Amino acid sequence: LTLTISANATHEIPATLYGYMWEDVNHSGDGGLYAELLQNRAFQGVMPGTHNALTAWQPSNGARLSVTSKTSGVSPALPNSLEVQIPKVVSGPIGFENIGYWGIKVQSGWTYKGSFYAKAATFSGSISVSLKSSKGTVFASKTLNGVSKNWKKFTFEFQPSASAETDDNVFSVVVDGKAAAGQTIFFGMFSLFPPTFRGRENGMRIDLAEALAATQPGLWRFPGGNNLEGESVQTRWKWNETIGPIENRPGRVADWGYPNTDGLGLLEYLNWVEDLEAEPILGVWDGISAANYSELSTWEIVPEADLQPYIDDVLNEIEFIVGDAKTTEGGKLRASLGRAEPYALRFIEIGNEDNFQAASYAEYRWNAFVSAIGAKFPQMEFLATTLPSTALTPAYKRIDFHMYSTPNWFTENSFMFDEYPRNGTKWFVGEYAVTSLNETNTLGDLPGGRLAYPTLLGSAAEAAFMTGMERNSDVVFASAYAPSFQHIRSYQWTPDIVTYDAGRMVRSTSYYVQQMFSTNKGTHVLSTTPAPSNATVPLFWVASYNNASEVVFLKVSNTGDTDLVADIFLDFPVTGFATATTLSTPTLSPLSGMFNTSNTLEDPQQIIPFDSSFPLIFSDRFNYTFPATSVTVLALQPQ
Ligand code: AHR
Repeated sequence: LTLTISANATHEIPATLYGYMWEDVNHSGDGGLYAELLQNRAFQGVMPGTHNALTAWQPSNGARLSVTSKTSGVSPALPNSLEVQIPKVVSGPIGFENIGYWGIKVQSGWTYKGSFYAKAATFSGSISVSLKSSKGTVFASKTLNGVSKNWKKFTFEFQPSASAETDDNVFSVVVDGKAAAGQTIFFGMFSLFPPTFRGRENGMRIDLAEALAATQPGLWRFPGGNNLEGESVQTRWKWNETIGPIENRPGRVADWGYPNTDGLGLLEYLNWVEDLEAEPILGVWDGISAANYSELSTWEIVPEADLQPYIDDVLNEIEFIVGDAKTTEGGKLRASLGRAEPYALRFIEIGNEDNFQAASYAEYRWNAFVSAIGAKFPQMEFLATTLPSTALTPAYKRIDFHMYSTPNWFTENSFMFDEYPRNGTKWFVGEYAVTSLNETNTLGDLPGGRLAYPTLLGSAAEAAFMTGMERNSDVVFASAYAPSFQHIRSYQWTPDIVTYDAGRMVRSTSYYVQQMFSTNKGTHVLSTTPAPSNATVPLFWVASYNNASEVVFLKVSNTGDTDLVADIFLDFPVTGFATATTLSTPTLSPLSGMFNTSNTLEDPQQIIPFDSSFPLIFSDRFNYTFPATSVTVLALQPQ
């Protein structure tokens, strides 16, 4: 291939081009990014008296546990409590344990901050809490006094004396058996946090937050995804139930098979987006709930005549985010929760995947939400979620397009935006990933070709598609890999960008592609010849220039299974050292040539990008070999 990079900038690249779509799926929030260590901490979204209500809790030394709503809960939002009955004859410490999210990381040097509520009619002895291994080694403990017949909040801090060798640890709560024999003690709203990202209270798990932040995403779409919709109108994501003290958040049944605590709520998301220096795309609930994806007729659709309360709810939500702290009710509420300054918010996405219920969207839902929000907040820009071909009134200016497919689909469609009419409408590729090798069932199961983890082959195909998005970033203003996170012990969707358990984490090959593209972002696209769609070899590329750092980037995906040499001509001489960041199979390893390879929790560093450099002294031409199935970012310094 002979490739010429011109000095002509075709257009500016939006800062929002690369980012993520976020919702709580795969325990990405609870048990993932949200640093809370105790699972089912307040018995939210569960049915009292059932076995499921005790998820993650287990008795120790014969205590009898049940979840009840027959005694008043710690707050009106949290009606469920843990009832602990101590047998009449017992000796030694007795109580219960929480297994965390399938383990708890215990690290010396960390301060763990915890709390719980307790009450008892007659018991007034001490309560001991500890972090210990499942075999009984105690790493940290604290003893607390003052139980009475009314709920009391107990808070504590402890530092483990040593790091645990494994994450097979529990949080234990015990009382003295003799002192408590025959008595009943109620507990509610537990919490235990390790240190968090940037020390934020109610904050994020450090390693996971740092991994995401290291990709410098420009955009964060939240809070869903299906998890915005609810399986019923009643169980939709309700912004006002995700704010304030965690005791005031009821949590919800949620959409992905496990309850959400909503500890990761609207303000936590907005603060996180600010920490990332990204731009939010706020998905708002727009009148549909997804009961069953294979039975669209079972979905609830709010009739037009009943929609106003839900529109008002969204208006209140937006006012809460952007309203003035002195003159608006929403702004005052936000300020009362510690944040006077309005948040920056520009993009409102009306619903999620409304192509599944396009008729009511086109008939009234889109119009009703856009008209009402636009009238009150004229600064907002709206994203539609139906297919581009669906006619809407008012006509959409931005549309969210989703694609989960095979490597072939992504390479073949790498040019899909090249001919897109420049008519003022812009695209958000709001969910995309290579999910499968099976063209006929791209969202099937693992035996049917679904990927467990991203593979190098799939990630190179995503990169090929991303060169198309970047080259056409005058019409593709944003994109979001989806979904983002996966707890390996409980998940619903593969593959994902980062996988983890209680202590470990692996960055996938797709993670590295996102990072390579996002952290090497130009401010302007440079034109190249030939047009990539005219290439006769499976090389896909985009060139850009960064005004601030004065660097030219050439991003190239080789989706073929042989090395390919390009003769690169530059319309501007470059000098100094060019650097190359490459994601490929290491040539000298047994993996060489194995393109369906993944990084896994067991083997997290099989394929990681490596940097190299080569001198280019006042030159306007060089040869470069792009390894078989690889992604490369070349950084060149114009003279
Ligand atoms: O990303 C997983 C799911 O895929 C999202 O919740 C939904 O929007 C899409 O169908």
